Amino acid sequence: MMASRRKFIALMGGGIVLAAGAGAGGFVATRTPKGALAPWGAAGGHAEPRMRALSYAILAPNPHNRQPWVAELTDADGLTIWRDKARNLPQTDPFDRQLTIGMGCFLELLRMAAAQDGHMLDMDLFPGGEDGPVAQIVFKPGGAPDPLFAHVMDRRTNRKGYEDRPLGSVAADEVGRFGSLISDPEDVAALRALTWDAMAVEMRTKRTHMESVDLMRFGKAEINANPDGISIGGPLLDTLILTGMVTRAGQADPESAEYAQTLDMLKTAMDATPAYAAIVTAGNTRGDQIAAGRDWLRLHLAATGQGLAMQPVSQALQEYPEMAELYAKVHGMLAKPGETVQMLGRIGYGPKVGPAPRWPLETRMRDA
Ligand SMILES: Cc1cc2nc3c(=O)[nH]c(=O)nc-3n(C[C@H](O)[C@H](O)[C@H](O)COP(=O)(O)O)c2cc1C
Repeated sequence: MMASRRKFIALMGGGIVLAAGAGAGGFVATRTPKGALAPWGAAGGHAEPRMRALSYAILAPNPHNRQPWVAELTDADGLTIWRDKARNLPQTDPFDRQLTIGMGCFLELLRMAAAQDGHMLDMDLFPGGEDGPVAQIVFKPGGAPDPLFAHVMDRRTNRKGYEDRPLGSVAADEVGRFGSLISDPEDVAALRALTWDAMAVEMRTKRTHMESVDLMRFGKAEINANPDGISIGGPLLDTLILTGMVTRAGQADPESAEYAQTLDMLKTAMDATPAYAAIVTAGNTRGDQIAAGRDWLRLHLAATGQGLAMQPVSQALQEYPEMAELYAKVHGMLAKPGETVQMLGRIGYGPKVGPAPRWPLETRMRDA
């Protein structure tokens, strides 16, 4: 039991665990959800410039890995990007603020990938207002390659504990170009406490917790069938799932041992945080949210280039009544009156983790 518990704690929440040392080589080798990870290998594999850029853009970070983007090719050089509202997160993101930030990450990656191929994007955001497309784009010759593009394939959301060592000054400067870095020990300690309190609020509030539980994919078959949401898989977790020790019902039930273990595991990882990064904006329009996503993507890629691990910790930034007090507190710490903290994330040196699932590009295309 103890051994299982330790393994459970070591593996939960890491997203996909590609090759944990289970000591069972054959089984380990068969647990990789190859289909769900295929889009990482397929990126760049299209000759058509818009499809080629899109094949990278779908690797963008996005809330709960909902991948709400839909793309439509128009004419010879046009591209319309929509957000699929069926993929909304009404409990934790009632105003679609975070989903819009995710679209900003997508658009910035699209821009970088196109520039890599000698194209620049003429981009019109929300051309028909909020209810229409997110962006109407024309591909034109131009655009200079962006050095940050080199890190796209290595970027990960890393939910592990990080090493207890500060960021080097070069790394801090690089990352600080795109947002603010919080590394003063007192501020870091305060944010550790606050981000944990916020996680506890989310997990204790039934409807916000269930929004996550409903999006959990348990084991390789579920991950391959629905390569989005929150992946719980890898050799040992698959074993725990097969033996009934990790279940959707257990994750949903605050009285279960499994739920208590999950809380333990989350806290251990979140406590192991030497610094935070944040993006704060003066306004909070859809345009500001898209811009924040673009900055966040660049910040994350810069961190990746410096060998740093990152994980957004968004709970305190979420806009529902139970979170209001912590929302006010985090804004008091990181923003001036009237400003909005759009993103907050852990940053530090962490262990290597694998990529997250993606739907193939073809499934995100809308017929013209
Ligand atoms: C706006 C936004 C908020 C996010 N919030 C969280 C969060 O609170 N906790 C977390 O673990 N990941 C968070 N993420 C990261 C996503 O879960 C992650 O990007 C997605 O699962 C895909 O994984 P990848 O980044 O490794 O490709 C957030 C991402 C975005 C863009």
